[in-house]
Amino acid sequence: MRTVEVLFDKQSLVDRALELVLAKLRSTLEKRDRATIVLAGGSTPKPLYEALAGQDLPWDKLHVFWGDERYVPPDDPDSNQRMARLAWLDRVPIPAANIHPFPTQAGNPETDANSYETHLRQFFGLSEKDFPVFDLILLGMGDDGHTASLFPHTEAVQVCDRAVAVGNKDGQPRLTLSVPTINLAECVIFLVAGENKREALSHVFSSDPDTDAYPAAIVEPLEGELWWLLDAAAGAEVEKG
Ligand code: 6PG
Repeated sequence: MRTVEVLFDKQSLVDRALELVLAKLRSTLEKRDRATIVLAGGSTPKPLYEALAGQDLPWDKLHVFWGDERYVPPDDPDSNQRMARLAWLDRVPIPAANIHPFPTQAGNPETDANSYETHLRQFFGLSEKDFPVFDLILLGMGDDGHTASLFPHTEAVQVCDRAVAVGNKDGQPRLTLSVPTINLAECVIFLVAGENKREALSHVFSSDPDTDAYPAAIVEPLEGELWWLLDAAAGAEVEKG
C-alpha cells in the first residue's frame, strides 16, 4: 500500500516524518522488545534526526542501521554515519552496541559488504537463504531517481540474492541494502524535498516506470507500508493518495 502526502514545505515534511517514525517505533515496541530503524543518508533527513534527538524513547530497545554508506571512513564529512551521529545518535543515551554502521575500512567494498551481510544475519538470526526484515526503513531519492545507493543502470539494482550490495556512483563505490531487503521492510518512508526531484518523481510515479533508470520506483514493500512524504516543491505534480 502506497500513501503519498504532499506537505507545504520541508519543515512540514520533517514534522510529519517525525510523527510517522515515532508512531511506527512505538507500535513496534508494543509488540516486540526491540525496534530496528534504517537511516537514509544525504541531507534531507538531517533535521528529522535532529528532532529525534529531542525525543524520549527507550533507547536501549532501538537498533539503528543505515540503508547505504559512502565508501569513506566514519569521520569523513561525506559519511552518512557521521551525519546521523552528529545530528542525533551522539546526543542520546543509545547503547553503542545498538548502532550498526556499515563497515568501510577493509579497503575493499565487497569485503565490507560481506561483513555487513554477516552482521545482519547474526543480528536477525537468519539462515543463509533468509533476508533481514527491518521494522522501518527511511529513504531519500536523488534527482536522478536513485535511492539508497541503488543508482540508475548499475549492477546493485539487480542484486536479488544478497541483503547487501556494492553500489556505484560515477565510479565511486558505495555500500547499500539490496532491493529485496528494502522491500521486505514492514514500513518504508521516503523523504523527498526540492523542485530538483520533481522530474524523477514524475517517472517514479508513472504507470509503467523504468525501474533500471529510476530505481526508487522498485521500492514496493511486499507486505509493508510505503509512505512518500514530499514537500510541495517536489510533489507539485504528483497525485496525492
Ligand atoms: C546518500 C543517500 C541517498 C540520498 C539521496 C537524496 O548516501 O546520499 O542515501 O540515497 O538519500 O541522494 O539525498 P538528499 O536528501 O541530499 O537530496
